[in-house]
Amino acid sequence: MTVDHLVVRRDRPVPRLGATRVTAMDVLVIGTGGREHALVRALAADPGVDTVHAAPGNPGMAALARIHDVDPMDGAEVAALARDLGVGLVVIGPEAPLVAGVADAIRAIDIPCFGPSAEAARLEGSKAFAKEVMTAAGVPTARAQVCSTPDEVAAALDAYGPPYVVKDDGLAAGKGVVVTDDRGLAADHAQACERVVVEEYLDGPEVSLFGLCSWNEADGATVYPLLPAQDFKRIHDGDSGPNTGGMGAYTPLTWAPDDLVDEVLRTVLQPTVDEMARRGTPFAGLLYAGLALTFRGVRVVEFNARFGDPETQVLLPLLDSPLSPLLLGAATGTLADVPPPIWKPGGAVTVVMASKGYPETSSKGDVIVGTEALSDDPAAHVIHAGTALADGHLVTAGGRVLSVTAVGTDVADARARAYEGVATISFPGAQWRADIAAGR
Ligand code: AMP
Ligand code: GLY
Repeated sequence: MTVDHLVVRRDRPVPRLGATRVTAMDVLVIGTGGREHALVRALAADPGVDTVHAAPGNPGMAALARIHDVDPMDGAEVAALARDLGVGLVVIGPEAPLVAGVADAIRAIDIPCFGPSAEAARLEGSKAFAKEVMTAAGVPTARAQVCSTPDEVAAALDAYGPPYVVKDDGLAAGKGVVVTDDRGLAADHAQACERVVVEEYLDGPEVSLFGLCSWNEADGATVYPLLPAQDFKRIHDGDSGPNTGGMGAYTPLTWAPDDLVDEVLRTVLQPTVDEMARRGTPFAGLLYAGLALTFRGVRVVEFNARFGDPETQVLLPLLDSPLSPLLLGAATGTLADVPPPIWKPGGAVTVVMASKGYPETSSKGDVIVGTEALSDDPAAHVIHAGTALADGHLVTAGGRVLSVTAVGTDVADARARAYEGVATISFPGAQWRADIAAGR
């Protein structure tokens, strides 16, 4: 082996990508939720992946992956696990480890990692930073003011008027945003946070569009958009009740304009990653654009720096391309060498079953029955999120417990199959929405 060959291998640690890859690699997925179960499922079905490892994982992932115990927030611990396992790729699911720099710790020991640097993850970690980048990049979003005092908050609330939108500047696990007609409530929420963004209300359907992003010195930023999906954020039917992490999702959006993906790529995703690169903090990983389709055009509601949950649960079953070359390409700056994603025809729907009391409180330890009925169903499967094993029984572990994800000839067909699956599963206090993808 010549020295030149070694140098090339250091830059591109795994032999060529896509169809020409000759050896399979092992992959480590970090996280415990439904998004990570969906990622594990897609990677386990990928011929380019040998063993899938997951940490900390959950009982659903345990059927497909080797589970390891790790503190996902501890970069040194995650990096040591990845090194000991000899994986060719680490995929970080949740935002908190990304914002804490866990992807940086893995890359520091020369293991490819899917997920942005701590600096780039600020697009999700600070709403004020995201606004600053959008302004610099000319990306359409709600007008907003960053406020740190009650006077500033009062002035901003009056400037935009109701409905009032007040966002905690930092990460708040989906609970940092209050949208209300009640000025007192809006001001109270602001007071409970150190720094808030007060912004104009965006009226119109919400759409999630994800971009796989990679960057290298020679070619700059490459973005491959995925299919648009829609998430149902409120706990109750008819979009009522408090916000949650997401109670269900579907894709594709047959009602959306044909040029939506091209427009969002051109006006949102590409300018954002170009601006991040210009600042010397290129974004590599998944850029999640939460969008409102307003009567004045597309506006960004929020950016996230990772796959959305539950949207990922419906996107990956429709992905016809192997997932690992896309994630590895994004992680190593070589996405442009990988063919863009190809999608299966049809639709996919996921319906979340949440624990009693969610989202305000959470119930744990309730026995879950009926999941095995779906194990042989080719159209529907169970994704685990807040589940645990106790005395050999599957029990709830709080929050969003599990979801039933189904594919079908179209969204309506997938929806019928998903709800058939939900009907076979029960646990005390289970909550689910009956109107996910209704009429779609
Ligand atoms: P975020 O954490 O920024 O995604 O906000 C959570 C949810 O609050 C969004 O999915 C929207 O439903 C809602 N929201 C956030 N910002 C706005 C806005 N400017 N106008 C209307 N609704 C908003
Ligand atoms: N589905 C919303 C989120 O992942 O933030």
